[in-house]
Amino acid sequence: MPTDLDAYWMPFTANRQFKEAPRLFTKAKGMHFWTDDGRQVLDGIAGLWCVNAGHGRTRITEAIQRQAAEMDFCPPFQMAHPKAFALAEKVAALAPEGLNRVFFTNSGSESVETALKMAIAYHRVRGEGQRTRLIGRERGYHGVNFGGISVGGIVANRKMFGTMLGGVDHIRHTHDPARNAFSVGQPSHGAEFADDLEKLIALHDASTIAAVIVEPVAGSTGVLIPPQGYLQRLREICDRHGILLIFDEVITGFGRTGQPFAAQTFGVTPDLMTLAKGLTNGAVPMGAVLARQSIHDTFMTGPEHLIEFFHGYTYSAHPLACAAGLATLETYADEGLLTRAGEMAGYFAEGLHSLRSLPGVIDVRNVGLIGGIELTPVPGQPTKRAFDVFLDCYDKSVLVRTTGDIIALSPPLIIERSHIDQLIETLSGAIRRAA
Ligand SMILES: Cc1ncc(COP(=O)(O)O)c(C=O)c1O
Repeated sequence: MPTDLDAYWMPFTANRQFKEAPRLFTKAKGMHFWTDDGRQVLDGIAGLWCVNAGHGRTRITEAIQRQAAEMDFCPPFQMAHPKAFALAEKVAALAPEGLNRVFFTNSGSESVETALKMAIAYHRVRGEGQRTRLIGRERGYHGVNFGGISVGGIVANRKMFGTMLGGVDHIRHTHDPARNAFSVGQPSHGAEFADDLEKLIALHDASTIAAVIVEPVAGSTGVLIPPQGYLQRLREICDRHGILLIFDEVITGFGRTGQPFAAQTFGVTPDLMTLAKGLTNGAVPMGAVLARQSIHDTFMTGPEHLIEFFHGYTYSAHPLACAAGLATLETYADEGLLTRAGEMAGYFAEGLHSLRSLPGVIDVRNVGLIGGIELTPVPGQPTKRAFDVFLDCYDKSVLVRTTGDIIALSPPLIIERSHIDQLIETLSGAIRRAA
């Protein structure tokens, strides 16, 4: 145990509560973490939606070790190293047809900023520089940087931070419990929520709008599954008006919904796609933006000695991250993990929906290996009931995550039925006790 917990200001954490009763992990392997006092905790959230192949995968850790010994760093501006090209090619090969140009970043938040800038710059390069407006969605989470919180729609993440980007508007979220509560998989009602985009186009005029960004499955706000036909309708409207569609697949990427990407699960291809998390199995920070080739090619004009896109990070395509990414994709391929969520989804859904009649449960939602359980808030104390469930599960050696009064599950894709049983039984007890 560290002797002093004061200096570390923890992100997205109730710091004072934590430091009163710290929760420390010191080891991880497979489906489990171990606490500093040696307790084995089942990981119900793949670390933070990222450790898709489970913890401590030898192939990945050895690839990182080898790379660190061979070449620790290579400047990514005007220079490169072979693994960056190899990884870009492998990621593109998994992606929907046409999304075959890959720009590396170091996090989901950076991927979002990169995609938004790419969208605005793309229109400018093609002579429509007035298309600068960005459209997000209520309850959206696109990381924590200024572009991301501007297009994002989680109030607590926005309200403290001033005016943010100008020229941003939002369509409605798709949560509609009155019609869709306890839907198994995609809810049947709500494709028409996409028509909000038509309203914003009527208000602002399409000629001012660069891009629309949505998470195919909204994760951080508490797991909102897209209604049937909704993403298709967004795609049609964007196409009709020359607006780019960006899917933020930071959590849905790399097998979470049963296909490599949610775009494939739902049969809708965006123009730009943001990735991170599962790209390196969480072992080294890394993100990426996938772009349609035509978007990339639009930038490739002008004198050849000039930089085409004035953007990038010191650690873009970091050698350790590329090595981790390559080993991660090999692991996913060898073990069939990018489609395993589809195989396990039925059993997972059965378990989740068995909780529907517990006290305080007002909705259960699922797709692939993503689950959401919404609880009725304790009167006057929003978020308290779910937080109590989180602490109770942790005491019983299961890690879940909560946002608001919603419990979110996103276990590693290597999960077995016995782990699902443990997850559901533990949650069931904790939900009862929190009632
Ligand atoms: C959809 C989405 N976009 C962006 C991010 C931000 O990623 P990061 O925390 O790596 O910056 C997240 C993180 O959870 C996310 O869920």
